[in-house]
Amino acid sequence: MKINCLLLFAFITLNVIAQKENIDTRVENLLNQMTLEEKVGQLNQYNDDGIATGPVTPDGDKEGQIRRGELGSMLNVIGVERVRQFQDIAMQSRLRIPLIFGQDVIHGYKTTFPIPLGEAASWDLKAMKLSARIAATEAAAGGVHWTFAPMIDIGRDPRWGRVMEGAGEDTYLGSLIAKARVEGFMGNGLGNTDAVMTCAKHFVAYGAVEGGRDYNSVDMSDRMLWETYLPPFKAAVDAGVSTFMNAFNDLNGIPATGSSYLQRDILKGKWNFEGFVVSDWGSVGQMIKHGYVKDGKEAAYAAITAGCDMDMESRSYKNNLVELVKEGRVNIALIDDAVRRILYKKFEMGLFDDPYKFCDIQREHDAFNNPEHTKASREIASKSIVLLKNENNLLPISPDVKTIAFIGPMVKEYKPNLGFWAIELPEVNYDKFIVSQWDGVQNRISKGTKLLYAKGCDIDGDNKDGFAEAVSVARQADIVIMSIGERWDMSGEAKSRSDIHIPGVQEELVKAIQATGKPIVVMINAGRPLVFNWIADNVPSILYTWWLGNEAGNAIADILFGDVNPSGKLPMTFPREVGQIPIYYNHFNTGHPAATDSTLFYTTAYIDLKTSPKFAFGHGLSYTEFEYSDIKLSKGKMKNTESTEVSFVIKNIGKYTGDEVVQLYLRDRVGSVVRPVKELKDFKKIRLNPNESKVIRFTITNDKLCFYNQKLEYKSEPGEFDVMIGSASDDIRLEGEFELIH
Ligand code: NOJ
Repeated sequence: MKINCLLLFAFITLNVIAQKENIDTRVENLLNQMTLEEKVGQLNQYNDDGIATGPVTPDGDKEGQIRRGELGSMLNVIGVERVRQFQDIAMQSRLRIPLIFGQDVIHGYKTTFPIPLGEAASWDLKAMKLSARIAATEAAAGGVHWTFAPMIDIGRDPRWGRVMEGAGEDTYLGSLIAKARVEGFMGNGLGNTDAVMTCAKHFVAYGAVEGGRDYNSVDMSDRMLWETYLPPFKAAVDAGVSTFMNAFNDLNGIPATGSSYLQRDILKGKWNFEGFVVSDWGSVGQMIKHGYVKDGKEAAYAAITAGCDMDMESRSYKNNLVELVKEGRVNIALIDDAVRRILYKKFEMGLFDDPYKFCDIQREHDAFNNPEHTKASREIASKSIVLLKNENNLLPISPDVKTIAFIGPMVKEYKPNLGFWAIELPEVNYDKFIVSQWDGVQNRISKGTKLLYAKGCDIDGDNKDGFAEAVSVARQADIVIMSIGERWDMSGEAKSRSDIHIPGVQEELVKAIQATGKPIVVMINAGRPLVFNWIADNVPSILYTWWLGNEAGNAIADILFGDVNPSGKLPMTFPREVGQIPIYYNHFNTGHPAATDSTLFYTTAYIDLKTSPKFAFGHGLSYTEFEYSDIKLSKGKMKNTESTEVSFVIKNIGKYTGDEVVQLYLRDRVGSVVRPVKELKDFKKIRLNPNESKVIRFTITNDKLCFYNQKLEYKSEPGEFDVMIGSASDDIRLEGEFELIH
């Protein structure tokens, strides 16, 4: 058996090497035939004329350039027919080099899944891999070769609108999710018709923009960069990610797009990344505005020298690289390296063998109408919902309850359920394709149950005219469900907010309904952690629903009526007020830690606010209860060449079958650089029936104890460690300790 496995492994490895050599030869043959203009052409990427995801640079001669072999890639070309039109033109060029077509397939193509931050709340890596798989299948069938995903920026600032696109604040969880998404999008590997190229973005530290303002500057220590912001990108490289996108921000004074340290030294050097790097939209040219270069020519010089291979939409490469090479300022070897990387991917995708591989109308139609995709979307959506609070077990609601009032501006909406970064396919009637929250609840309740509706108010604005009707509807009901939140486009790119309270008069509407004395469940739709202290303190049951995708209504009904037991856990800390931001669970202890949550003076606290967040990282309740007991460590002292096993028992002591995410946190008590109060190092999502118990084991190895020391070496240090097993970062149920010996 062992020998068979070894033989199989050797066979696969040899095959991969042979395939690589074969592609390398084909790339070299082609490169040798290319003119300088054709080479530079491969390094350009243009937007189509329809949808634009950035400020378009008008270009009358796009088709002419394609015909002359002076364009390598396009983005936002929607649908097979349109892709075919452009590929046809590329096939008229001298060397018939196919175009590659990119698109922001962020959380689904036609079938839309929860926003990535919402999905991250599922802590279900298999589910996230599946959603990426389905998105890739549909996107590839729709003509897309390359998704600009996964976005793997660590986000610790909920003012930043793009936290909706990532996996939250934690490096360990974020790295695993990066891997799952890359693997999901790529399926059985590039070359298959259902696999798309992936893009790890935005390289790097974009999530740390000052003040949470999109596109802003970042200034951070190298140690913070290596420890917190780089690991998800390394995980993506290890998972075989195809491309990288650099970032809009400057990092320590150097625009990421022009940073040799990031792209040449770390990515292509230390990590040996063999794919190519695309700029973010216009970011090559934006180096002029940064004040880093004086004009487009210097921008092109800085970017290509720094290792940015493809210029998305700035035209700096197209307008200047040929001249820069002719003048001898840019070595042709740099251009050749970038072209090689791009051509390699085109060969790997099989586009030279069949440029229309992704242009099958029948396949497009079939992939868009797959009930399995809808089923997966519903399941992942219900797994993403987080039960923040459930006093007196108000939830789940009996579907036989006599009268339910469903109130709020989100209740009867369709398209907003998709959230930001949903693809607009012209031929799809989204209002028919999406299950509204109203429809989902209406479909689930018993025949005899009356469902009443009032909108109450808009998402923003100060109009309270609808309050009276909403209150009167609530009075007629046995229970009130409210659906409120942000507008779908209040989060996403260029959607930073200085005020992250629930907008408009929605919280006042909740107060008015609460005054009726009826039991209330509030559902909050949002692309980021919001601040809603009054609701959190006064309303008995709260569900955080993010933006759930096209099955939103069904997923919500599954949770409200208990067909699915909530299991989501927050991937980001929820602050009490904006003033607490940035806020994250794995902070340092400092020399003045607050003794209690309300100790105000001489501590790291504010004088007007508790220290703790409103809801902590990892928090999320269930309709059942779990009891943790019997923690055991296999060793009290562990050598750095050994491992220690932590085991404990978890039991479902409630009435419902449920999933729990058990979380392992460690703290290194003393370090040559100070260490966080706790760090997530492992987790498992497990299902237990009532009364069932299981023994859970985590293995602590030396690599879980390493960190970047003063010399930026990634090493562990001997000493004592605290072991914490929790249901959330602020709900530690079991504790242990061990000593590491070198
Ligand atoms: C700008 C965004 O920052 C990036 O994430 C996206 O992929 C490109 N625009 C293309 O839409």
